[in-house]
Amino acid sequence: MSLTNFIQERILIVTGAMEHWGAQMDKQTQEVMFSSKSNEWETPQDFFNKLNEVLGPFTLDPCATDKTAKCDNYFTQQDDGLFKDWKGEIVFMNPPYGREISTWIRKAYLESLKPGTKVVCLIPARTDTRYWHEYCMKAKEIHFVKGRLKFGNSENSAPFPSAVVVFESQPQTIIKTMEAR
Ligand SMILES: C[S@@+](CC[C@H](N)C(=O)[O-])C[C@H]1O[C@@H](n2cnc3c(N)ncnc32)[C@H](O)[C@@H]1O
Repeated sequence: MSLTNFIQERILIVTGAMEHWGAQMDKQTQEVMFSSKSNEWETPQDFFNKLNEVLGPFTLDPCATDKTAKCDNYFTQQDDGLFKDWKGEIVFMNPPYGREISTWIRKAYLESLKPGTKVVCLIPARTDTRYWHEYCMKAKEIHFVKGRLKFGNSENSAPFPSAVVVFESQPQTIIKTMEAR
């Protein structure tokens, strides 16, 4: 078999598997996973409010649109939050979930090394990835979400589990009193 035929055969196998897989999923899940909006995964407002209360108050949303921004101070794709300085901010980061997610998590970790900077990331709990082991394992806290979130206006739960990863290298100074004797 020639190399071209071999490659064509592999492509057909993969395409066939994808079609089969697609047929197994309900229409709404397909729309969520494959539409151009799949990078949006907008944080449910009540879940954000809870995080804001416990781990905020957040001062910066570095990956947003004008419509989905969770903070008054935010960056859109046009601003390119990846190349901005997050120093001194309490950041809420729900990044694009495509391949670029590793770049965002690296950015979150590196920014958190700056003084007075905390980055709280809402991300899929992909614990088998390289970026999880390289960066998330250095987090100050990891909260695994029980159950599945319903992103945006979807009636369906996400097809993946989520985690909240908190990067903060300089925790707040702990001030306590102590008896002299
Ligand atoms: C998962 S959504 C989160 C939206 C919103 N922050 C939220 O939590 O609901 C990720 C967002 O990042 C935006 N985005 C993609 N690339 C970006 C970039 N380079 N800089 C800033 N935002 C970006 C996308 O347009 C998308 O709206």
